[in-house]
Amino acid sequence: MRKNIVAGNWKMNLNFEEGVSLFSEIVNMVKDEVIGDQEVVVCAPFIHLSTLGKLAATAANVHIGAQNVHQAEAGAYTGEVSAAQVKSVGVNYVILGHSERRAYFGETDALLADKTNAVLKQGLRPIFCIGETKEERESNNFFAVIKTQLEGGVFHLSATEFAEVVLAYEPVWAIGTGLTASPEQAQEVHAFIRETVAAKYGAEIADQTTILYGGSANPSNASTLFAQPDIDGGLIGGASLKSRDFLEIVKVFNK
Ligand code: PGA
Repeated sequence: MRKNIVAGNWKMNLNFEEGVSLFSEIVNMVKDEVIGDQEVVVCAPFIHLSTLGKLAATAANVHIGAQNVHQAEAGAYTGEVSAAQVKSVGVNYVILGHSERRAYFGETDALLADKTNAVLKQGLRPIFCIGETKEERESNNFFAVIKTQLEGGVFHLSATEFAEVVLAYEPVWAIGTGLTASPEQAQEVHAFIRETVAAKYGAEIADQTTILYGGSANPSNASTLFAQPDIDGGLIGGASLKSRDFLEIVKVFNK
């Protein structure tokens, strides 16, 4: 069966000390309270990753992720960080295509395809985000938007490469707004994503693909969202900044 993953996205929050302290709490709580094989991922700012990588190395089932990388392997790109660099401190996952990167940093599908290649080349797993804006939802255009994002960002991959990709459906109107997609709305899109993947790569790969939901997920709505057949976990922003809230979401998958 496909893997259940709960990933926290800290965004540009927490100074170094706060980040280390939150991560240590998460590691301890996971050790004490998590029963099951769900995977926990914490996507922290770059400056935290080296220290968190050392803490994660001794923690079963807790991995670290970056929130972005540059598409080139190395070179004269002042201010940027490469996939090889984050790998060297113990990163396993990289969020790509988050709507904030698409909207505020002009990241296009074509650029994201290059970034996906860079991440896979290092043996890391992309958490590739897709999702429609409020206008696209209201104009009923969201299936086409999501299909285009998949085609532009990840469908150039071979089947073996695609098998390493984690997808995250994050309706832009639900991110940080407190407006969660209803379990039915989310399931409808997740099922569509899985069908679209099946049409491209076949039913077996589609069935193995982990598809996360993101957008105002919290301890009160996580269990109904994760109970949907095509929702395999979450990408959690605000609620991942509080260890107790994050753990309650992770524990939805306790067996
Ligand atoms: P949110 O963010 O949980 O705060 O809505 C989710 C995300 O942006 O990944």
